[in-house]
Amino acid sequence: MDLTYRPRRLRRTPALRAMVREFSLSAADFIYPLFVHEGAEVEPIGAMPGANRWSLDHLIGEVQRAWGLGIRCIVLFPKVSEGLKTEDGAECFNQHGLIPRAIARLKQELPEMTVMTDVALDPYSCDGHDGIVSSQGIVLNDETIDQLCRQAVVQARAGADLIGPSDMMDGRVGAIREALDDEGFEHVGIISYAAKYSSAYYGPFREALDSAPRAAGDKPIPTDKSTYQMDPANAREAITEAQLDEQEGADILMVKPGLAYLDIIHRLREESTMPIAAYNVSGEYSMVKAAAERGWIDERAVVLETLLSFKRAGADLILTYHACDAAEWLKQG
Ligand code: PBG
Repeated sequence: MDLTYRPRRLRRTPALRAMVREFSLSAADFIYPLFVHEGAEVEPIGAMPGANRWSLDHLIGEVQRAWGLGIRCIVLFPKVSEGLKTEDGAECFNQHGLIPRAIARLKQELPEMTVMTDVALDPYSCDGHDGIVSSQGIVLNDETIDQLCRQAVVQARAGADLIGPSDMMDGRVGAIREALDDEGFEHVGIISYAAKYSSAYYGPFREALDSAPRAAGDKPIPTDKSTYQMDPANAREAITEAQLDEQEGADILMVKPGLAYLDIIHRLREESTMPIAAYNVSGEYSMVKAAAERGWIDERAVVLETLLSFKRAGADLILTYHACDAAEWLKQG
């Protein structure tokens, strides 16, 4: 064949391929999500093989392991005892609660690790929603903000570095920014769940925290979160959401879930100059784990390819339950 262009010339050897490689992964890109509970044991999560609910003592060891692998940020989620869950989720701002204690312990043992938190009511609500649910079954926007601001301030006071408002309701970033500043936490950042979709991919996470929406008594409880999380059919709306969060003072924008929303990551990358994070959520993790357990896919290759796809789409940071495995594989080269 008489060809002028032969793209294969640059794919011929590993050295040539490395020279023209456009994107790369590093452990410093990862944010490692960890579940904590009151128990003294490490409790495996059925729907998320390889993920656990950690006791505070064991949590320290796991975070030290992550640090050793080059991971520089973790995010904490609490499995709250049923007895502490209420309609208003007031446990979320208990300064002696599970999350503030976990943050304080971590900051004492490993002060350099960046600690991110989640701000929403769902782990603390007996209704399983991110906000207070009215007697008519409406998930309330404005009435919930006071709880969230108090939750953010308690987390900042315990030592959190990055606050992650995840309820996907209106006016969160601005109100939390103001509350943090009023209390002298102007140095604490906000990583906003700017485009969070109403997704079936959160199933295993809700099992991990036992936090799925559920009926309690006579109150009509919405069975999903579609009145506050975004419609998977919408793309332009994600840009509006991101612009609002940027105007309200977000420091990092997040897209969630990640894999089915790579186009959204890409669009935000074109629209914004802010750092962008992708959340490789529980359902995405569990699907890979399930297929790997059956020997249907090569877990290492699939995970690294998937994580790289977030970088290629335009993400700077990736929240992933694969963080430690991936960091270890990257180390092995
Ligand atoms: C809740 C929250 C959810 C996740 C992170 N924060 C679940 C939800 O919105 O119902 C899901 C994360 C995952 O699936 O890995 N505020």
